[in-house]
Order: sequence, then structure tokens, then C-alpha cells
Amino acid sequence: MQALVLAGGEGTRLRPLTYTTPKPVMPLAGRPFLSFMLDWARGHGVDEVILSCGFLSSAVRRVLGDIYDGMRLRYVVEEEPLGTAGPVRLAYDQGVLEERLFVLNGDVLTDVDLTAELAQHERTGARVTLALYPVEDTSSYGVVPTDERGRVVAFLEKTQGEAPTNRINAGAYVIERDVVGERIPGGRPVSFEREVFPGLVGEGLYGYPAAGYWIDIGTPERYLEATWDLLAGHPRSNLPPRDETGSLVYENCLLSGAHLGPQSVLGRNCSVGTDARVERSVLHDRVLVGADAAVTESVLAERVRVGERARIEGRAVIGAEAVIGNDAVVGEGARLDPGTRVEPGAKVEPGARIEAAESVP
Ligand code: GDD
Ligand code: MG
Repeated sequence: MQALVLAGGEGTRLRPLTYTTPKPVMPLAGRPFLSFMLDWARGHGVDEVILSCGFLSSAVRRVLGDIYDGMRLRYVVEEEPLGTAGPVRLAYDQGVLEERLFVLNGDVLTDVDLTAELAQHERTGARVTLALYPVEDTSSYGVVPTDERGRVVAFLEKTQGEAPTNRINAGAYVIERDVVGERIPGGRPVSFEREVFPGLVGEGLYGYPAAGYWIDIGTPERYLEATWDLLAGHPRSNLPPRDETGSLVYENCLLSGAHLGPQSVLGRNCSVGTDARVERSVLHDRVLVGADAAVTESVLAERVRVGERARIEGRAVIGAEAVIGNDAVVGEGARLDPGTRVEPGAKVEPGARIEAAESVP
């Protein structure tokens, strides 16, 4: 079975992290994000994956290569972003699609049962089957009501107002190749959610009621939530063992006298100074945290440097190679572009958005 993974979005909601690393290979619990998706697909019999990339595609290829754990990886690269359905048409035009395939959004961490979805697809004779997952807040997703036989009755992408169901589009489809040729116009951006699926209602579009674990990692809040869940063992993965605080520390980290955890991830070659605290946070590779500093519920991209006694308060996201001076404070929810400099003793206001060109005096 073949899967096409949509991995060409710009990941705007994960900025500033995605300025330097594309979302598909963003480290999640220290591993390139897509490796979790590839493991999942492989577990459901997928043996060939088409990675549909545009934005920073060379970085994706460099990280994942052409073979992953026995699965063949092909790359279909678009020159201009083609939306969610356009890239599938591009792969079709290149003649690489099998008769039936999975199409997967490239930013979901899940253990949804693709095998069962495929079995339902065959049983119903559907042309397209969408995995649907129940969530509490449907507002940032595609809401998909179905009838008692599983036929989709409407596809409501990010609409306002009361939702007719709490089941949303989980971004995991089974699609017949002829639908791609017939329903997705070539040569321009096309959206599955706004164009193709609404047009297929009543014409062989089915929903599969998915269960298990599912999260879209596309915002900093959900990226952290997914990290904590993975550390706690949901979904199951082959991550290295966690320490007694539920944290994961990769190779060559220096931590003597630091207070690490709970639920934190330290990438390779990080260093955390004496009496510094790192709580419920993610440090990508080569991050340095000075003595007596505190980092809480935040994400620090690679090579960030945090000075002594500095404080990074909750839900901050700090871009690669930013430098936070001694005694500086980065307020809750602040986002700092790659390379930002916060001078010693300076304060970044909560919720601030600092562009790379500025430095904070
Ligand atoms: N190749 C390519 N080209 N991929 C793209 C493009 C593009 O132009 N635009 C987006 N993608 C990829 C993204 O990288 C991501 O993996 C996937 O398509 C979905 O795009 P998002 O931008 O993450 O969409 P969303 O999260 O707001 O909404 C989508 O996912 C929800 C579930 O997470 C929709 O499919 C919703 O209906 C769905 O509920
Ligand atoms: Mg998404």
C-alpha cells in the first residue's frame, strides 16, 4: 500500500521554529516529526511513501533520505504551494500513484487504525474515506457530519458557529486514484477541504469513526502537549527510556547540578548550568542554559543561549541561535525570531513577538 504525505505547508503557526526547520522534520521528543508518522504508516502495511514537499523540501530530504526502515520514500516537489489536493494531482500527473492510496496530513501524531479504515473503505465501496476523530473544540478543523451509514453529509472547513458534530477531519484519507484524475484540477492550487470534499458529498464520500490517540502538532501549545504525551507513552513509540522525572536526555548533554524535569526533552549537546531549572520544556540540539536560569513550559530551538539567572516563562517559543542575556526575562507566550538578542537584564513583555532584526535593549 502506498501513502502520500502532505508535507509542504509553511507551518506558520509554529513560527519562529519553522523559519529554520520545516514542520515535517521538526524534532518532536528529539526525533524528526515525520518518523513517527512513517512508523505508524508502516505498521499498517504501507511500503511506499510519497512525500509531497515544497517549502524547505531539501531539508526534509536531507533528514529522511530515500529509504526509511525498509520503506521507499519518493519526493514530489512543487514549485509553488498547491494546497492540500493540488500536490496529489501533481503526483498523479507524474504517474507515481497506485490505484488506491492513503493521503495523510503531514502534521498529525496518531495511532488511528488505518487498517480498519481501509477495510471499511472496501466494504462500503467508497471512493474516498475520511478518518473522523472526536474533539472538544472543533473550531480549527474541518467538521464532518455523516449519516447512519457513514456517508458524509457535509464538509465544513473551519466554520464559525455551532458545529453539527464533534467529529473532525483527522487528515487521513483512503482515495481511489481515479478520483484524483476526475476531481482535482491540475496546474493550480486546490484544497481538498474547500473544494474537493464538498463536491464529493453524496458521491461516494464516507467517514470512518476513528478512535485512539490523535493530535495535530501545528501550534506551539499542541506541540508541547504532543511532547508530554509521547514522554508519558501515548501514543506508543520507540523513544529511548525516560528518566525518573519523565524526561528524555539525548547524547552529550552536560547537566551537572541542574534541575531537570518533569517532562522535558534535551536534544543533543545541550548544557544546563548549576541550579538552573528546566521544567516541562523542550530544548532542541546544542542549547545552552546558564547557571541559576529557569525555563518553564517553553520551546528553545537549536543553539539558543540563555544567560545566567535569566527566566523564560511559560509558553515562550525562542527561535534558533537567539541569545538571552544574563538576568533577562522572557515573558509568558513571547515568540522570538531566530537570532534575536535580548540584552542582559532586559525584559520581553508577555505575548511579545520579536522580529529577528530587533534586539531587546
Ligand atoms: N505539499 C503541500 N503543499 N502540502 C501542504 C500545502 C501545500 O501547499 N499546504 C498545506 N500542506 C500540508 C501541511 O504541511 C500539513 O501537513 C497538511 O497539508 C494540512 O495543512 P495545515 O495547514 O496543517 O492544515 P490545518 O491543520 O489548518 O487543517 C487541516 O488539518 C486538520 C486536521 O489537523 C484540514 O485538513 C482540516 O480539515 C483538518 O481538520
Ligand atoms: Mg495542521
